[in-house]
Amino acid sequence: MVMFEAEGVRQETMRSDVYPRHGMMAGATHDELAAQKYFLGLRAYANGRLMAQAIDACNEQIMPEMGERDPEDEDDRAAVLRKSEELPIFQHWGALLRTSQELMWDYVADTVDRQLDDLEDKFRSIDEPLGSLTLHPDVPNPEYLTLVDQHIQPGGYLHDAGGDDVRAGAIYDRGAVLYGLGRAGGLNDVRGHTLCAFIQDAFPSEQPKRILDLGCGVGHGTLALVDLYPDAELHAIDIGGALLRYAHARAESLGKRVHFHQQDACNLKFEDESFDMVTSEILFHETSRRGMPAILKEAYRVLKPGGAMCNLEVPLRYKGMDMGGVVVRDWQNYYNAEPFWGSLGCVDFEQAMKDAGFTRIVQGFQPRTLNFAGERGTMDKEDPSMGALSHWVVFGGYKD
Ligand SMILES: C[S@@+](CC[C@H](N)C(=O)[O-])C[C@H]1O[C@@H](n2cnc3c(N)ncnc32)[C@H](O)[C@@H]1O
Repeated sequence: MVMFEAEGVRQETMRSDVYPRHGMMAGATHDELAAQKYFLGLRAYANGRLMAQAIDACNEQIMPEMGERDPEDEDDRAAVLRKSEELPIFQHWGALLRTSQELMWDYVADTVDRQLDDLEDKFRSIDEPLGSLTLHPDVPNPEYLTLVDQHIQPGGYLHDAGGDDVRAGAIYDRGAVLYGLGRAGGLNDVRGHTLCAFIQDAFPSEQPKRILDLGCGVGHGTLALVDLYPDAELHAIDIGGALLRYAHARAESLGKRVHFHQQDACNLKFEDESFDMVTSEILFHETSRRGMPAILKEAYRVLKPGGAMCNLEVPLRYKGMDMGGVVVRDWQNYYNAEPFWGSLGCVDFEQAMKDAGFTRIVQGFQPRTLNFAGERGTMDKEDPSMGALSHWVVFGGYKD
């Protein structure tokens, strides 16, 4: 089982922390940086050596007693997880992972809250924007997002104090540097560049004039799409108002033209057949059994005939994985406020796209790249990394 590589991780992270690469990133003081680096060490230890031991203990000590179990069966996974939790190594690993997650958000909130007024001033003082921001604070929230604070982020994605509040976005952006163990790229844009590489390889003839990015968060993936299609009109939606204020200010500070809208991806306000391409990056694992098909259906509705939908997701595929590997991932459902995590590991993306009407579906594992226009690998049909973030799941199809 390949795990996170702690050393490479720290190097990249330190660079992005010391030199924030855009005007909205909350910069850390020396002491805050020291705390955040402590988090990185703790997380690398928990997710590296300790997790490997927890997986081995499950496979070697628990599985022989439990007999044949199906990684795609929810009851089987729950039974193996319950039994694994009796193992001291599993308890040790789980406690450390949960604690490190809470510490991460605490440390990030310290940095953001110290300069929140400045960040809100920057949002307020945007002058002659290239793009736009359209908020609809009354849009109903999808129920699945109201039930938990996703990955224990304080207030989840929805927290919005109104006015010029950008806190959820500032916390998400700085948190993503740490959460990705520094492997998210200088602008947290590895996922965006990886999706662009997939689009270039699998949908090479697409020249969209109007693009819609779903569940854009603070625009990590969206801005890479601006670079891929500089002449296109790029729209991006999310449900979180404070995320979007931050996203708008961040895009403007980087000189990127994006039109951000507060909308529910399950119930878009755009006209039928009004986009040439619809995209998403790590949206679906934050949805639900009902949310995911509803979003695919909406994407199909707003696409013009001949248009394409292209998605990138966390590399979470349970089929064929050993039960130890499966239960350390399923742990996220119960202890990291990621209720759809395990179910996503079993979703058949190709079938889900077909059910929504898409055809000519492509699916695979795209190697992570910091620069879609530069050196990069090509898509694999199987996951060569078994869940380590060297590859991301990609899938897409056409509306014919
Ligand atoms: C993990 S974040 C990914 C954000 C961004 N795409 C990125 O790559 O950083 C998932 C995002 O999806 C948004 N989201 C989830 N369900 C949504 C829905 N039904 N409508 C709009 N946004 C949604 C959340 O608010 C959150 O910002």
